[in-house]
Amino acid sequence: MTLQLQDINVTVADGPDRLTILDGTTLAVGPGELIAVTGVSGSGKSTLVAVSGLLRRPDQGQVLIDGEDLSDAPDRRRATVRRDHIGLIFQSANLFPSLTSIQQLELVAHLDGKITTDDRDQLDTVGLSDRLHHRPGQLSGGERQRVAIARALMGNPSVVLADEPTAALDDARGREIMALLAELTTTRQTATVVVTHAPHQLHDPDHALRLAEGALHPTTDRDAAPL
Ligand SMILES: Nc1ncnc2c1ncn2[C@@H]1O[C@H](COP(=O)(O)OP(=O)(O)OP(=O)(O)O)[C@@H](O)[C@H]1O
Ligand SMILES: [Mg+2]
Repeated sequence: MTLQLQDINVTVADGPDRLTILDGTTLAVGPGELIAVTGVSGSGKSTLVAVSGLLRRPDQGQVLIDGEDLSDAPDRRRATVRRDHIGLIFQSANLFPSLTSIQQLELVAHLDGKITTDDRDQLDTVGLSDRLHHRPGQLSGGERQRVAIARALMGNPSVVLADEPTAALDDARGREIMALLAELTTTRQTATVVVTHAPHQLHDPDHALRLAEGALHPTTDRDAAPL
């Protein structure tokens, strides 16, 4: 398994008490597999992404990336694994306004010292070969999200985590971005987790799970209907 969560517990301070957000959450995602996660607002989806992406430590439980438990690893090791093995995509593309598409990728390559395939090839993969020299203000929302996906895929991460990547897009554009993530999961053999409020945009996830009361449950067709 490329990404494994074992009995993850996350609590946060809630006045004098502690509020449990993730309660024994377990998940396994292998190469070329795409998992959809839904759940009501506040159910802990972003927390799940943060724990999986080594942005946040769980109170208890194991986070294994390519077989290595990183839940108690030193910060430096976690940062290295995050940089080299994990691609993160969020609701907003978080691009630098003054940089062109290709410069957004060049900056990451420079900062991370990543050896990547050609940045142009990367943007070509996400269908942006004719938008290399546009700035975010000159791109549509869907195109901006494609740049963010290209950036997340630099260095060929084995794990891709997307937290509501289509929330800012219309339904048609949302479906296109979901189709792209599904296609890249297959071609790059990534272990992909997509959090979404619109599971119908994902044509055929390997598993659709719902986060409720801190744990992941299989969803029924009815759960997967547009919210
Ligand atoms: N650092 C924190 N301190 C206190 N409470 C937090 C913290 N982080 C998250 N929470 C709480 O934990 C719960 C889960 O938050 P999370 O952001 O993971 O939910 P979500 O499912 O992603 O919600 P949404 O669909 O609105 O994005 C919420 O009740 C939130 O207020
Ligand atoms: Mg969230």
